[in-house]
Amino acid sequence: MDDVDMLDTTRTSIPASRSTQPAAKDKPADFANPSSRIPWVEKYRPRLLKDVVGNEDTVTRLAAFSKIGNVPNIIIAGPPGTGKTTSILALAHALLGDNFKEGVLELNASNDRGIEVVRTKIKTFAQKKLNLPEGRHKIIVLDEADAMTEGAQQALRRTMELYSSTTRFALACNDSEKIIEPIQSRCAVLRFTKLSDAQLLRRLLEVCDTEKVRYDDDGLNAIMFTAQGDMRQALNNLQSTVDGFGFVNSENVFKICDEPHPEHVSRMLDACIKGDIDEAYKILNYLWSLGYAAEDIIGIIFRVCKIHPMAEFLKLEYIKEIGLTHKKIVEGLGTLVQLTGLIARMCRIVQNKAQPTR
Ligand SMILES: Nc1ncnc2c1ncn2[C@@H]1O[C@H](COP(=O)(O)OP(=O)(O)OP(=O)(O)O)[C@@H](O)[C@H]1O
Ligand SMILES: [Mg+2]
Repeated sequence: MDDVDMLDTTRTSIPASRSTQPAAKDKPADFANPSSRIPWVEKYRPRLLKDVVGNEDTVTRLAAFSKIGNVPNIIIAGPPGTGKTTSILALAHALLGDNFKEGVLELNASNDRGIEVVRTKIKTFAQKKLNLPEGRHKIIVLDEADAMTEGAQQALRRTMELYSSTTRFALACNDSEKIIEPIQSRCAVLRFTKLSDAQLLRRLLEVCDTEKVRYDDDGLNAIMFTAQGDMRQALNNLQSTVDGFGFVNSENVFKICDEPHPEHVSRMLDACIKGDIDEAYKILNYLWSLGYAAEDIIGIIFRVCKIHPMAEFLKLEYIKEIGLTHKKIVEGLGTLVQLTGLIARMCRIVQNKAQPTR
């Protein structure tokens, strides 16, 4: 099989008219200009709930809370960079408007998260008297709440109840399992999921437009491939590529993201499908010699395999083998031998299938 441009298979259609921007920027970012130093993740953090991309059901529920005013305590759980903190802050702004500053206490993982904080900061804020508009409550935002110690969470149980007439809690976390059951039962648990490529693309195009970024389709596809549904990562990778090279194409993106280029991995899989262990090993050994860890390599083999246009039966077998190898690597056997064993098995799967069964 010829070299497969693996990004073809994931391609989310990019409007042709927007894929080539005027050559406004031929060189890396202008660091003398203060506005170019603002991280785009902050510059483009949505202020309003309606601007949060994706997770429509959850965001609609939050918007409904903001209209009624009477919010329950909430936990928003989901993967990184999908808009949890952003949505909670947008909700708090919608509810409190000009009173945001004095009406919101925001604690995140950079604050101490032990029991003392609940006893002091949280309690003091909950007891504070404030003149808020009718039906509005003070809001305590506990970001990255899964990093709170269990003791602190236990101490929060009673505080949540005692001040329920004046204060609401909004917790954000990646893993809702790490929030103790009694807290979960006092809250409405809302879930965020990873963003789709189409959703990432929509936002990336907006940012590229505003920042006059020069890009090509493969560049944006590469950003989506590396971000894996994480908007923060997508924007950071976009900005780093622009700062570093001034032009977003797949080669520059993979250089910036320091990931093995999927095209190599795709060619390695092609070689396995042909049963050509020598060629597959050559590519694997090349990736290894670049210094990538076994976990990075197995991760990208999985992601490329998922979208490689191979026969379905083969893909199922390959993913099974990749999974087993990943397990070994996570258990500590992150060696070239293990990865070579994987490609050997991949080559053999094809050969076995080619032999008629009796
Ligand atoms: N759904 C989204 N819509 C638009 N921008 C987003 C969205 N999600 C993330 N972003 C961008 O990514 C940045 C980080 O988002 P946010 O802080 O809300 O992530 P998070 O879900 O809280 O992640 P973490 O779990 O790591 O705390 C935002 O400033 C914004 O620029
Ligand atoms: Mg967050």
